[in-house]
Amino acid sequence: MAKGRYARLHSRKLSTLTLVLSMLFVLSVFLLMLLALGIFSLPISTDDSPPNDLSSFRRRRFERREGIGERGEQWTEILAWEPRAFIYHNFLSKEECEYLISLAKPHMKKSTVVDSTTGQSKDSRVRTSSGMFLRRGRDKLVRDVEKRIADFSFIPADHGEGLQILHYELGQKYDPHFDYFLDEFNTKNGGQRIATVLMYLSDVEEGGETVFPAANKNFSSVPWWDELSECAKEGLSVKPKRGDALLFWSMRPDASLDPSSLHGSCPVIRGNKWSATKWMHVEEYKV
Ligand SMILES: *[C@@H]1O[C@H](CO)[C@@H](O)[C@H](O)[C@H]1NC(C)=O
Repeated sequence: MAKGRYARLHSRKLSTLTLVLSMLFVLSVFLLMLLALGIFSLPISTDDSPPNDLSSFRRRRFERREGIGERGEQWTEILAWEPRAFIYHNFLSKEECEYLISLAKPHMKKSTVVDSTTGQSKDSRVRTSSGMFLRRGRDKLVRDVEKRIADFSFIPADHGEGLQILHYELGQKYDPHFDYFLDEFNTKNGGQRIATVLMYLSDVEEGGETVFPAANKNFSSVPWWDELSECAKEGLSVKPKRGDALLFWSMRPDASLDPSSLHGSCPVIRGNKWSATKWMHVEEYKV
């Protein structure tokens, strides 16, 4: 009697175990079928880059058709933190550079500087280039470029002034200056200038570098040091390369003005230089 009860208990335990095991087996087969049919997938990334890699985000952005022509590989280089300055390689295609030059070429005028008391433009010996403004959003390509600038600088396109196209011929330059204003007049529209994107529309054989003489960084640490002109060696410099863009901030993250953003354009020694400048303000800039 006691023995019989034990055997029954034992067999009941055994059958429970068999039931659990066969249920697990059926469940595994079911899951494998779902996986095979692709109805269910394991939570792994299908992207070839790790989740924190922004380059996949960037790649996707550029796959959307905008602008004209093919651009070389786009990558970002940190130039300095004082001033905060970054180089975007191949920001514009060759065709985009040529298009911007062709828009401006028939309308170039001798460059002026802004008078800090009246806000009027005036002739100057510190700035000897010629230039013209392209109205903001004037056509599809200009809008595409302005959108690209907004995407990269994280400043809305309507905070920007119209693109200024500049031409520097042999010996022409722009002495070091700040892009921010120290007067009330020039900050009425849009408030202070916060950052600048400077795009090189041409290569320059020699000279024409953008120089930051007040940068807090070893000037000779740049890889292109040996190719720089004497003027460019007086500061932290960027050699113009067609399609590249330089973003630098006139204000620090705490909103104070950054004097290390002092910058100039060295005299062109050989060839000539075309550039496009986008000045951006802390608030909407009305055009
Ligand atoms: C500046 O950088 C150059 C090139 O990397 C190096 O040879 C030189 O020693 C550096 N100077 C200082 C003061 O760190």
